[in-house]
Amino acid sequence: MSQKIIVVGAGYVGLVAGACFGSAGFTVGIVETNPDKLRSIKDSNVPFYEPGLSDLLKEGIAKKRLSFYSNQKDALESLNAQFIFCAVGTPESPDGSANLSYVEAALKDCVLNSKNHVYFIIKSTVPVGTSQKLQKMADNITPGKVSVLNNPEFLKEGTAVSDFLRPERVVIGGSPEAVEKVGAIYESFLLNQKPLIKIDSVSAELAKLGANLMLASRVSVVNQIARLSSATGADIRSIEKVLQSDSRIGSKYLYAGLGFGGSCFPKDIKNFIDLCKKQGVDASVAEAIDTFNDEQKLIFVNQIIKDFPKASSTRIALLGLAFKPETDDVRESPALAIVEKLSALGYRFNAYDPKAMETFKASVKKESNVRYCSCSEEALKDADALLLVTEWQEFQRIKAEDLKTCFKGKHVYDGKNVYSATALKDAGYIYYGVGRS
Ligand code: UGA
Repeated sequence: MSQKIIVVGAGYVGLVAGACFGSAGFTVGIVETNPDKLRSIKDSNVPFYEPGLSDLLKEGIAKKRLSFYSNQKDALESLNAQFIFCAVGTPESPDGSANLSYVEAALKDCVLNSKNHVYFIIKSTVPVGTSQKLQKMADNITPGKVSVLNNPEFLKEGTAVSDFLRPERVVIGGSPEAVEKVGAIYESFLLNQKPLIKIDSVSAELAKLGANLMLASRVSVVNQIARLSSATGADIRSIEKVLQSDSRIGSKYLYAGLGFGGSCFPKDIKNFIDLCKKQGVDASVAEAIDTFNDEQKLIFVNQIIKDFPKASSTRIALLGLAFKPETDDVRESPALAIVEKLSALGYRFNAYDPKAMETFKASVKKESNVRYCSCSEEALKDADALLLVTEWQEFQRIKAEDLKTCFKGKHVYDGKNVYSATALKDAGYIYYGVGRS
């Protein structure tokens, strides 16, 4: 008989984890308290865009490996599962700290409703020390009933399913006995000697924040070099090649652009800073990355104002709204920051994104001067400038000869360095890249 797992929270991480555990042969109960979301996922409708997830959900439902519940009590009664993965949200509080109320509520539900001893495995990104705090909380209600562990998730939006099914490593933090038990779940996911890293829960929690800070720092460092590259007449694309060919540096997260966005890097950096402050640790490196990245999103703004001093008669074709390709997530997207800043000055936008139009509409200020278009050609038609924010493949394929037929303007602001500066300049366009002259 297949092993049973409950996943609490059908957000990004929870739904991917649940569907992937199902596809690996586990019997999985997914708990979601939001009735609309629950209804939608029961019908295999994923409430966000993530390649491959909907098919996996359909398959899991058809094979009767996935079942859905509106509360943990019902899931525990029905499945009597031993492993409870907690993937509920930890939204940012106004002071930058993570709000743990959903995680705590999930733990209490688990202690009060499980019949036997269970493993409560935290996948949500939580502040350092949370697992230990929650272990105490559980033991205060019923000693020894629940073992709390931390199992940080490293999947990326856009490639979440393959990241989960074939992780580079799995990290489990907790007591040695509990870590052994939970680690066994992941054996079939780890191919080619990819490591299962068994550590204490505090280290697991800090490793998650540390990994995101490290990746974000690489993005900020390459963007820092890009700023100097623009100023000195160097080309960041050439510099990237030099850096990436050094095996000590490595090739990933070294592309200059409009800074990082998404729900993870920005939030985790703020979390990291908050924790440093609480521990009396200097956070200046993390603080600099945070501030620098906010500025990076707006790197073209001054140039646009200089090139087009008459704001109200300037229309900008905004290609890409999502914080990166293959997602409809616009949280902390550079597009939001740019529209907010330039709209307030009177600039107008023709916006298009293959997947993120609705999420953008819901997130941008109502009074922003944005007209939504059905394709890039429509966005470009009456625009004075092209501003590429997200490197969707369909935008990367736009060539100078295509622009000749559908674009009224002359200015191209390439926020992801995807276009050939030479080809555009030769065709008479005024080209700006990030860190390219
Ligand atoms: C990130 C981490 O990569 C995951 O390992 C982690 O699990 C996740 O956060 C999380 O904590 O949940 P994600 O936010 O989906 O994943 O996005 P990434 O693909 O890492 O990109 C983050 C941002 O950095 C994007 O805005 C991207 O455009 C930007 N980026 C990335 C660059 O500007 N340059 C690069 O070279 C790489």
